[in-house]
Amino acid sequence: MPTIALLGTGLLGEAIGQRLLQQGLSLRVWNRTPARCNSLLEAGATAIGDLNGAAHGCDAVITVLRDGAVTAEVVQALGPLQGTTVIPMGTMGVGESRALATQTAEQGGDYLEAPVLGSKPQALNGTLLVMAGGSDAVFARHQGLLKHLAETPQRVGPVGSGAATKIALNQLIASLTHSFSLSLRLIQQAGVPVETFMEILRPSALYAPTFDKKLQRMLDGEYSDPNFSTALLRKDLLLFLSEAADQGLKADGLQGVAALLERASDTELDAQDYCALHELTQ
Ligand SMILES: NC(=O)c1ccc[n+]([C@@H]2O[C@H](COP(=O)([O-])OP(=O)(O)OC[C@H]3O[C@@H](n4cnc5c(N)ncnc54)[C@H](OP(=O)(O)O)[C@@H]3O)[C@@H](O)[C@H]2O)c1
Repeated sequence: MPTIALLGTGLLGEAIGQRLLQQGLSLRVWNRTPARCNSLLEAGATAIGDLNGAAHGCDAVITVLRDGAVTAEVVQALGPLQGTTVIPMGTMGVGESRALATQTAEQGGDYLEAPVLGSKPQALNGTLLVMAGGSDAVFARHQGLLKHLAETPQRVGPVGSGAATKIALNQLIASLTHSFSLSLRLIQQAGVPVETFMEILRPSALYAPTFDKKLQRMLDGEYSDPNFSTALLRKDLLLFLSEAADQGLKADGLQGVAALLERASDTELDAQDYCALHELTQ
């Protein structure tokens, strides 16, 4: 069984680690805040004390860190990579991922970006959607590892294409949540029963399953125990807007959603589930 170093044991990283351990892999773990490794250590992982040299003897280094800048910094701290593959699963920009691939090569390692759609429950039961970017050969070498986390890991193209795919999907999370929140508020203000609205919406072409997934939380104003935080959704929307600008897209309509999400900065909404965006539409 391969030996994996897992760097970043936050909400998603911890769940990925639990899944890899449950699948019988040998796991070494590191997190900036060491206490967030405790549940994985109790489940059989070993702790990485010093990042420098920590990739030695590992088949792959999986990172699940906040963003591209943090990932580059933590990978740099590993020092020589001696043929190990760095597999970032956190969400970062296209340019950031390409730069990290170059950095990884300079450190002597291979690179396969592998951002994911899905959250803690999907990580725990191995049903994440993995959109990998990298060479065919590196993807083939690590397909078995990715299959512990995703039923059908996909290679979407060269480095950068996985990052672009992930950012494109997360733009939909922000836009759909925002759209649904506005419509929900309007029908409530108009005195239309929510269930009547949902009965019309569900069989229509406008329906998205995320609406029902978040409906109760929005109605209750209950955003605790997040699977994905408001702060990270804002980060990903800003990544999309930056990429869209680079590509010359007219993303003005999306700027409003980003401005709305900015209002969550430094408030309690930031650490809560991203559908707390609903609090910003009233
Ligand atoms: N949650 C999801 O459903 C989901 C789904 C798909 C993709 N993602 C992506 O996966 C990544 C992790 O998300 P998450 O939900 O697990 O977030 P999280 O719980 O906030 O974890 C963030 C991780 O990044 C680390 N970190 C942040 N700043 C750091 C720094 N300056 N130096 C070193 N480490 C730092 C944190 O360490 P500390 O514990 O010390 O703060 C933690 O390990 C993000 O890129 C996110 O967009 C998340």
